[in-house]
Amino acid sequence: MALRRQIIPWRAAGTRAEMRRNADEVVRDTGWVFNNQTGSSLTLEEFVQTGDAEVEIYLDRFQWSEMAPQSSVLEIGSGIGRMTAALTRRFASVIATDVDAAFLERCRETVARFGTVSALRTVHIADGSSINAADDSVDAVFSYITLQHCKASDALRLTTEALRVVKPGGYIALNYRTWVPADIILVPAGGVMRWLWRIPVVGQRLSQWRWSTRLGWQANRLDPRRVLALLEASNISLKDPVILHHPGRPQRSVSLDGAVVRQRDLDVANKSHWWLVAQAH
Ligand SMILES: C[S@@+](CC[C@H](N)C(=O)[O-])C[C@H]1O[C@@H](n2cnc3c(N)ncnc32)[C@H](O)[C@@H]1O
Repeated sequence: MALRRQIIPWRAAGTRAEMRRNADEVVRDTGWVFNNQTGSSLTLEEFVQTGDAEVEIYLDRFQWSEMAPQSSVLEIGSGIGRMTAALTRRFASVIATDVDAAFLERCRETVARFGTVSALRTVHIADGSSINAADDSVDAVFSYITLQHCKASDALRLTTEALRVVKPGGYIALNYRTWVPADIILVPAGGVMRWLWRIPVVGQRLSQWRWSTRLGWQANRLDPRRVLALLEASNISLKDPVILHHPGRPQRSVSLDGAVVRQRDLDVANKSHWWLVAQAH
């Protein structure tokens, strides 16, 4: 079996996803690791409804609704398919990718029940950063609450991978976590928690609790400067890039290829999140 290169709660949730008999049990046991709003008494159907609602909102805010029915989309970090089911109903085809093969199995099951399974293909990101898809092969790449949960180097590589697989003129919408004042406490506490997770037995236990996971699972912060500097260094240029952020919380001004990148409020954005939305050249 391929090695799971991810932080310990994902590995623990992946193992539980493998062990549980049915999808409702998986959601009750691990659903909160995908969407912290969800509790421990959910059905898969209720869990997927949270993803349905979010997909509608994001397609609207990114102005992707019109192109979706004729387009393919690749989702980086699908988890067990909370949003993938809706993506398969809205797009002509979907490639769901994740570092965890067990989540992809569950994702297929979720889509079979609540989406259009004939539109779905899954691709395992076995090494945590390489997407096994051809250059210029998809119309859009979407990633939500994933690039903050891996090593910064993996998140950066996945960013250039997104721009490798998307067709010229295709679209990307990638979600990152950046710095907030509370990080003065959260960053060291998160580091300590990730260290505690490595202690045999105790770490395994800790990694399954919500409070511990909340502290430790945000493994990186990437601000727009770092991501756009990487694109420039990789000679990747973008058409109409825009940074979407929490209302009234713009990111520091940043440029790409000598032009200042536009910034816009996104009503539904979390305070610590920002999105890079653009077309590929
Ligand atoms: C918070 S969940 C979000 C899942 C889904 N986007 C959603 O909103 O329900 C983060 C997902 O990222 C995946 N992940 C973590 N590191 C990854 C990596 N390096 N490459 C691909 N997926 C990764 C985890 O396995 C997990 O399924």
